[in-house]
Amino acid sequence: MIVCHCNTISDHEIRAAVDWMRAADPDTLITPGKVYRALGKRPDCGGCLPLFLDTMRGCDSLGVPMQLRGLRRAATQGNGHEGRQESHRISQ
Ligand code: FES
Repeated sequence: MIVCHCNTISDHEIRAAVDWMRAADPDTLITPGKVYRALGKRPDCGGCLPLFLDTMRGCDSLGVPMQLRGLRRAATQGNGHEGRQESHRISQ
């Protein structure tokens, strides 16, 4: 199935690129931009990104490396407001 019509990228090519990147570097974060680069292409209209991401999420090897998991949770623990000043909060 063609996922990106601008660049004629299929779901098979996306899965192969994700598997190849994971095999080459088990600790890397795999993003759509990296997949495009691995395929030697660049996104054009961006209309395929929702389906592109869904295809990537379907890959068994896409997982986030263990040492990068929970970073957001760790950053927000302690003050409870994600680093924003209280004046930036939406009033209730
Ligand atoms: S359909 Fe993928 S960039 Fe346009």
